[in-house]
Amino acid sequence: MTAPRVEKLRQFIQDLDALHREFTDEQPLLDAVALRLAALVKKDDWLPEEYTLPHPHHYQQYLLHADSGQRFSIVSFVWGPGQSTPIHDHRVWGAIGMLRGAEENQRYRLDERGQPVVIGVAERLSPGEVEKVSSRDGDIHRVSNALADSVSISIHVYGGNIGGVRRAVYTPEGLVKPFVSGYSNRHLPNIWDLSKDNQYAHLFLSPGRPAAP
Ligand code: FE2
Repeated sequence: MTAPRVEKLRQFIQDLDALHREFTDEQPLLDAVALRLAALVKKDDWLPEEYTLPHPHHYQQYLLHADSGQRFSIVSFVWGPGQSTPIHDHRVWGAIGMLRGAEENQRYRLDERGQPVVIGVAERLSPGEVEKVSSRDGDIHRVSNALADSVSISIHVYGGNIGGVRRAVYTPEGLVKPFVSGYSNRHLPNIWDLSKDNQYAHLFLSPGRPAAP
């Protein structure tokens, strides 16, 4: 098996940083992030295996990167067969790109009693496809693994440190439950080992050669 091409994640992070300096308004920023995310999820060859592992009882959300200013975060969501989220919101913009398998996205609105009501039918997201959530596009939804017998993985980008955002889960009875999701992992991918990119790396690795300063 070939090594995951984590340099793609590194370049994606650098591109997101550049987009945040280019766009100040949310909508053009989200549109640009979604386009860039579509390019990232086009090929499933870069996500290290430890961020692809499902949990037998609930979905996993692995933090891949959080911007130092918490302007954005990148998360891999891993769905075991039949797993789904509760109905929830985000309170920040988000772009969701399908990397592996498929998921279903059911959008909701709140009626006058505060109970969630479905909007339309569930949309299916296939590999390479991207969808958005925001206060403008609809912020309440429920996401499920569309596959009954295999793992699905989507890559999410949010306009904040999503694991630390105070947001809400909505019950069918109209209860609003505050929650902060956190993350499933304790360690982040190492995107900064450039040794394989370095044309002089062999000088350091070859036995018998003096160590370069
Ligand atoms: Fe969501």
